[in-house]
Amino acid sequence: MAESWVNSSEHGSVGSDLHLELAAGGSRRAALIRALRAAVQDGRLAPGTRLPPYRSLAADLGVARNTVADAYAELVAEGWLTARQGSGTRVADRAAPPPRARVPKRSPGTPARPAYNLVQGQPDAGSFPRAAWLAAARRALTAAPNEAFGPGDPQGRVELRRALAGYLARVRGVRTDPERIVVCSGFAHALRLLFGGPGGGAVLRGPVAVEAYGLGFHRSLLDAAKVRTVPLPLDEHGARVEELADVRGPVRAMLLTPAHQFPTGGPLHPARRAAAVDWARTRDGLILEDDYDGEFRYDREPVGAVQGLDPERVVYVGSVSKSLSPAVRLGWMVLPEHLVGAVVTAKGEREAWASVPDQLTLADLVDSGHYDRHVRRMRQRYRRRRDHLVAALAERAPHITVTGIAAGLHAVLRLPPGTEASAVKAAAWQGVGLEGLSDYRHPAAATHAPDGLVVGYATPPEHAYAAAVDALCRVLPPLGEGEL
Ligand SMILES: Cc1ncc(COP(=O)(O)O)c(C=O)c1O
Repeated sequence: MAESWVNSSEHGSVGSDLHLELAAGGSRRAALIRALRAAVQDGRLAPGTRLPPYRSLAADLGVARNTVADAYAELVAEGWLTARQGSGTRVADRAAPPPRARVPKRSPGTPARPAYNLVQGQPDAGSFPRAAWLAAARRALTAAPNEAFGPGDPQGRVELRRALAGYLARVRGVRTDPERIVVCSGFAHALRLLFGGPGGGAVLRGPVAVEAYGLGFHRSLLDAAKVRTVPLPLDEHGARVEELADVRGPVRAMLLTPAHQFPTGGPLHPARRAAAVDWARTRDGLILEDDYDGEFRYDREPVGAVQGLDPERVVYVGSVSKSLSPAVRLGWMVLPEHLVGAVVTAKGEREAWASVPDQLTLADLVDSGHYDRHVRRMRQRYRRRRDHLVAALAERAPHITVTGIAAGLHAVLRLPPGTEASAVKAAAWQGVGLEGLSDYRHPAAATHAPDGLVVGYATPPEHAYAAAVDALCRVLPPLGEGEL
């Protein structure tokens, strides 16, 4: 039987953690040499790694101290390890085999990876508020009671739910108290919790009406949960929710992006907001409100959450994916009272998705005002980027109309009919990554939106933005193309 060893502080050792398996039988010294050599050769022990002191390794393996000393000495002699006074025994710099180069396979017909990334979907990653987040984490973890480091409450830390209740009421017009909030890892997780799937529980049933243009990923999550989606046509006032009255069959919920239709970019008209709530009241239905970028508005009156019209008929969902980073994985659901228990049950017995230290950090960030400050700063930055894009297009491609620019982190460029697919392809060949509007179309949508490009102006790093816009202008179809 192989002996295995994990260096741990319980044994009083001070080295780093390492798992070794010594072959049974034969000399312990030879077995240890073989195990260490193999760990260096296959890269588990990287060059420069400090090995545990003789005594702690010997204690953990149940071998004599000299056995370890001899094994180290042998491997030093072979060149696998180095021993230097004061810095212990380490893996030699050139001990590991060179990593195998991973050459991305590119078929002859594949364009280069985009040099200019204008694919919508993420905030400027370089603007993550590292210092503010670190300071908030330090404050939050210093103040946290010990029980915060035990298993987490699946509803979410009360500190965060309190902070969010105040923030969402103040900034988005959401009517809530902390008891109606369930913390999750983002909108996708909220969908899984509501309809089933990994990390979820099937609280609601379909079919669900969705906007005819929307995020395919969300539709595929619903598909995976066997929830049928019914496309709602869009016009310049947003989703034509009144058409739900004509849909046959029991549509139970309506998934909307009311503050900023995704991806076309307009707010849902007030009459449509009211109609959606009326539908939910009369048909015992629910509105799922995806408020993915509600904080980012530039030159129009703030559009509050539909949830404020009827908290018992709306599941309001937000996350930090656009405001801070999609890597953080923190979101929130503000639920009608009767759904709170079922959603908490769907989350499981203990928090398994949203790290409690991160929840406490976000709570501090919000309470201390740094979250607001960051959002304000980013709003100014994105507004400048948006203005730059609009000005560049006005000068260099005046035949192309830009829409959906009053809010959010992306714009839609309306193209001459029949040019979208070739424009996306041409952009890819020129190293400009972006998507066409048709990429977002529900496969069963009755109509097609006019041709368009979805341009994510938050994505490039600040220093690369002007060059990205310049490259975009170069690949746009010229005046007249497609109209002949
Ligand atoms: C339409 C839409 N909804 C929601 C989100 C947020 O998703 P999540 O919170 O799962 O990161 C995004 C992307 O950030 C989005 O584009």
